[in-house]
Amino acid sequence: MQPFMEWSDNLNIGIDTIDLQHRKIVDYINELYRATQENDRELVGKVLQGLIEYTSSHFGFEEEMLESNGYADLEEHKKLHQNFIERIKKHLDNHEKGANVARALTGELQIWLIAHISKEDQLYVPSLVTPPTGSVLTKMINKFFG
Ligand SMILES: [Fe+2]
Ligand SMILES: [Fe+2]
Repeated sequence: MQPFMEWSDNLNIGIDTIDLQHRKIVDYINELYRATQENDRELVGKVLQGLIEYTSSHFGFEEEMLESNGYADLEEHKKLHQNFIERIKKHLDNHEKGANVARALTGELQIWLIAHISKEDQLYVPSLVTPPTGSVLTKMINKFFG
């Protein structure tokens, strides 16, 4: 089956760890699409649950990185993350009540993710202490020993 959404290199923000995490979210969206196409309601629920957990940990990672860099718009960025998680949770809730949410949701997720990465995530890149040429690990090493 063709994936619903393919990673495009212009979605890379240039920080390896973050780019990998964003790709993984795309994998979840594709998995959700597959579950929907196969009419596998149980799988839809599992994937949504996994998506919530994975995305929350990505958001936590990103927020910690922004906090340690003193990012000025951190609170606003956090709010966007929170709203997103709440929305997926609501969809999962509706799914559990028997609604057919996944088909519309895959499109919504795709639009949200692309917009968030290319606008809000892209925005914080210049404010990171070390230029985004390497991984976060490299950044951290540079920060402490550079
Ligand atoms: Fe973000
Ligand atoms: Fe992100």
